[in-house]
Amino acid sequence: MSVFLDHASTSGLRDSARLALLAALELVGNPSSVHSHGRTTRELLEAARDQIAEACGANRSEIIFNAGGTEGDNHAIKGIYWKQNQQDPTRRVIITSPTEHHAVLDPVSWLAANQGAEVHYVKLLRNGMLDFADLERLIDQHSSQIALISLMWVNNETGVITDIPRVTELASKHSIPVHSDAVAAFGHVPINFAESGLTAMSLSGHKVGAPIGVGALVVARSAKPASLVHGGGQERSLRSGTMNYPLAVSFAAAAAESTEQLVSEMQRLRALRDYLEVKVEKIVPSVIFTSGQAIRADYNSHMIFPGTQSDALLFLLDQEGICVSAGSACQAGVLGPSHVLTGMGYSPELASACIRVTLGVTSTKADIEKFLVALAKIYPIALQATPA
Ligand SMILES: Cc1ncc(COP(=O)(O)O)c(C=O)c1O
Repeated sequence: MSVFLDHASTSGLRDSARLALLAALELVGNPSSVHSHGRTTRELLEAARDQIAEACGANRSEIIFNAGGTEGDNHAIKGIYWKQNQQDPTRRVIITSPTEHHAVLDPVSWLAANQGAEVHYVKLLRNGMLDFADLERLIDQHSSQIALISLMWVNNETGVITDIPRVTELASKHSIPVHSDAVAAFGHVPINFAESGLTAMSLSGHKVGAPIGVGALVVARSAKPASLVHGGGQERSLRSGTMNYPLAVSFAAAAAESTEQLVSEMQRLRALRDYLEVKVEKIVPSVIFTSGQAIRADYNSHMIFPGTQSDALLFLLDQEGICVSAGSACQAGVLGPSHVLTGMGYSPELASACIRVTLGVTSTKADIEKFLVALAKIYPIALQATPA
């Protein structure tokens, strides 16, 4: 049996999510239908909305179910940008950071290439934390021309946590809407939409034990981003299409369980992660833990092994039955330097020599021990496999 230490890529279905899904799949009924079948599935969907709202500190009306993080990021960014532009065509500036997930970076670049957006990237400190002085400078410089700010809550590669309430406080001076990709945060660190000051926040189900292909965009009641999908007017007319109650109830079950277990799991995983890092340093004294002393999520360890290459490390570890990743799942099977690490100022060589270990509900001390044995075996081979 292989050891799965890649929970940030996808975390596997929780039993609670599987059971909720299977039960819902037995039903027939479009939640928009007025007959009894429709009312039954509607009740399930609305109960799921309540659970998600409770899990992330939002009002139930702010939960817009969708197909996951990529859709939520696209919707928030394009939808807020379009809405802002419609109200005031001079609001064309988008502020984001170079270490966002591609689900944020790519729609932002698309708006720049096709819709006249002007993008400014906030600087990062070497440990991956946001340079707040630079953010403040950008906000002051562009003030009323800023259409939106999009900054992630937890970085999916380094695990570094951004102080989102501090971002929204700075943005509020100029009434700038702020979106946050909270995909790597939800269910892993405490988050509260109401207290965050955010306009919108993206969540994804499969990172907390729900099936792939479900998530939610949390949209403040005061906001109405333009829709990407027009049709029957479901989900506050923000996301038309027959509402997918089986996936919604499954997502809600997983989200409720992961938030219930949040505090105990944070402690458990932090102990495992800290143990792992102490031992890794003994095996490879030159290792660099990319988040340094930054505040970060407990389930994540992101490390650089100078003189190696990520793809060699991943391949050799996989041969030993250990599944980890280099960062975000590689695109088209090709691993380039991590854009997150280059965004933090690392050279392309070091940014191509990293692995990410992410823990989850199934992770045990025995998994960590197996990882350490495998690392000790493959590290010298990975070093040799890398051309000088
Ligand atoms: C930070 C972050 N944002 C967005 C996504 C995309 O989410 P989804 O796979 O639900 O589309 C991911 C998935 O890897 C992610 O880690």
